[in-house]
Amino acid sequence: MNNTFIMEHPLVKHKITLLRDENTGTKDFRTLVSEIGSLMCYEALRDLPTELVKVKSPVAESMQPMLAGKKLAVIPILRAGLGMVDGILALCPSAKVGHIGLYRDEVTHEPHEYFSKLPDQIDRRIVIVPDPMLATGGSAVDAVNLLKAKGCKDIKFMCIIAAPEGLKRLQEAHPDIQIYVGCLDERLNENAYIVPGLGDAGDRIFGTK
Ligand code: PRP
Ligand code: URA
Repeated sequence: MNNTFIMEHPLVKHKITLLRDENTGTKDFRTLVSEIGSLMCYEALRDLPTELVKVKSPVAESMQPMLAGKKLAVIPILRAGLGMVDGILALCPSAKVGHIGLYRDEVTHEPHEYFSKLPDQIDRRIVIVPDPMLATGGSAVDAVNLLKAKGCKDIKFMCIIAAPEGLKRLQEAHPDIQIYVGCLDERLNENAYIVPGLGDAGDRIFGTK
């Protein structure tokens, strides 16, 4: 689909390989997730509009581009999406931040919402939704449902690793959003974990389990 962008940059590929390694510890894992968040944000914001403004350098006055248009909001899906937020804010420090708390039931793999707090005027913002893992797609679909119910129209979902099943489900449920994927993996296993994936992103970021 032409609203889905799979990252081709060698830096992103290299860092995702390091993330997959079971010997990568919590500190490095966290750093890598944040760095990939920055690199993917750079790609995802390519289409931000600019307008010409007057600027006077020490040499001459000229008209030069500055960002224009809608303000940004970053709405990570808790917990693991939090790991990408600092990296995104490093590029757009004025963005507002909200949170959507979802956890997957270990047996049914269905997402359950336990928290949401969104910035004011969320419907007028470009909304970036980071979550490292798009597995069955249930969490991403629910998060976007919630944002659309609040009036959001301009949504960019961003994941580090996606399973084909989850990507298809998100594309079909929300054909109008933009989807940024660090790497598209092979499949889901019987526990709805991504293969080869990187394991449980939340546990690896926060050192739980
Ligand atoms: C993980 C991940 C996604 C979700 C993906 O979160 O961060 O939110 O699973 O799976 P899905 O596409 O099948 O819905 P999890 O529910 O494990 O919660 P956590 O981030 O708190 O660990
Ligand atoms: N959530 C994760 O953290 N990892 C997976 O592989 C699937 C869901």
